[in-house]
Amino acid sequence: HILISILHKKMSIINDINIAAKHIQEGNLVAFPTETVYGLGANALDPLAVAKIFEAKERPSFDPLIVHIGNLNQLEQLVKENDERIYKLAEKFWPGPLTIVLPKSDIIPDLVTSGLPTVGIRMPGNDIALDLIRTSNCPIAAPSANKFGRISPTTALHVKKQLPGVDYILDGGKTTVGIESTIIRLTDKGFQILRNGIITKEDLETIIPHDAKSKIESLSAPGMLKSHYSPRKKLLIADAKSSNTNLSKAGLISFSGELEKAYAKVIRVSDKKDLKDYAVNMFEAMHTFEDDNDIETIIAEPVEETGIGIAIMDRLRKAEFNWRED
Ligand code: TXA
Ligand code: MG
Repeated sequence: HILISILHKKMSIINDINIAAKHIQEGNLVAFPTETVYGLGANALDPLAVAKIFEAKERPSFDPLIVHIGNLNQLEQLVKENDERIYKLAEKFWPGPLTIVLPKSDIIPDLVTSGLPTVGIRMPGNDIALDLIRTSNCPIAAPSANKFGRISPTTALHVKKQLPGVDYILDGGKTTVGIESTIIRLTDKGFQILRNGIITKEDLETIIPHDAKSKIESLSAPGMLKSHYSPRKKLLIADAKSSNTNLSKAGLISFSGELEKAYAKVIRVSDKKDLKDYAVNMFEAMHTFEDDNDIETIIAEPVEETGIGIAIMDRLRKAEFNWRED
């Protein structure tokens, strides 16, 4: 009986992949799970298909897309550079939540890169995503599958909530990393981080040196605006001031457990104070409170800005930005 249900599960997944891949080949959009967040995918080599991504997300065209690959042969077609450091990074971190920005080849439409001469490439660490790319037989351009500026999706339901019109959604359950990939670019001296994620500077330094020469602010990836990942309700990072809000209508995203007392509702993101759990559960907690009619304000507990804490605080600050009063 168990074997039959496993076979059945496997079969239905294979079927889904075939339908999804057909959509990709026909120039339609498919939402699919990655290990970070759900992506909204299209054939990266088909400008008309890529245009549908910008339309569905209401995304400004100055914000370039990441191209997802299923094997290293695809990489060679997409980039001009043949730097051996790419392969060292790939060996250690791919498939996985690392995006590398590289000089692009001519086969990538300008719309994908917003006219930039570079393209962000990653091989996602999720079997459904890899299967989709391989079955579609083309690289897949995919931003996170949310409306521009809103909370990123970590379940198929989150995608449906924001993008009900998508042609096809592959459901792979809840994502296992929970925040978007680390984005880097290579320099003569080493690497620079354009967006923080769970692969940290220290992780990357085990492979190539960090280049601290230029200031990170001036390098920040295009499309990385001050406001992002934003719920429709007020979100504040807990501090002395946020305790002035009406706590009987506030939901707390709790990490340490120490602030929980006065809040109407609490979502504890980790039971062992592990920052990885904060990353995994943060966006889901925002979605839950956004959908909860009893909650007016979302308060998120801050964490120390080291290691993965840097990526977590980056997301919280951007989610808070529009709601901050000072
Ligand atoms: O984990 C992820 O990276 C997820 C999943 C779906 O793979 N994708 C994702 O895509 O977060 P998106 O579109 O939400 O964020 C991509 C960001 C852009 O906003 C931009 O800042 C940066 O990647 N980016 C893309 N291409 C770039 C380039 N050529 N140079 C610099 N930054 C680039
Ligand atoms: Mg996004």
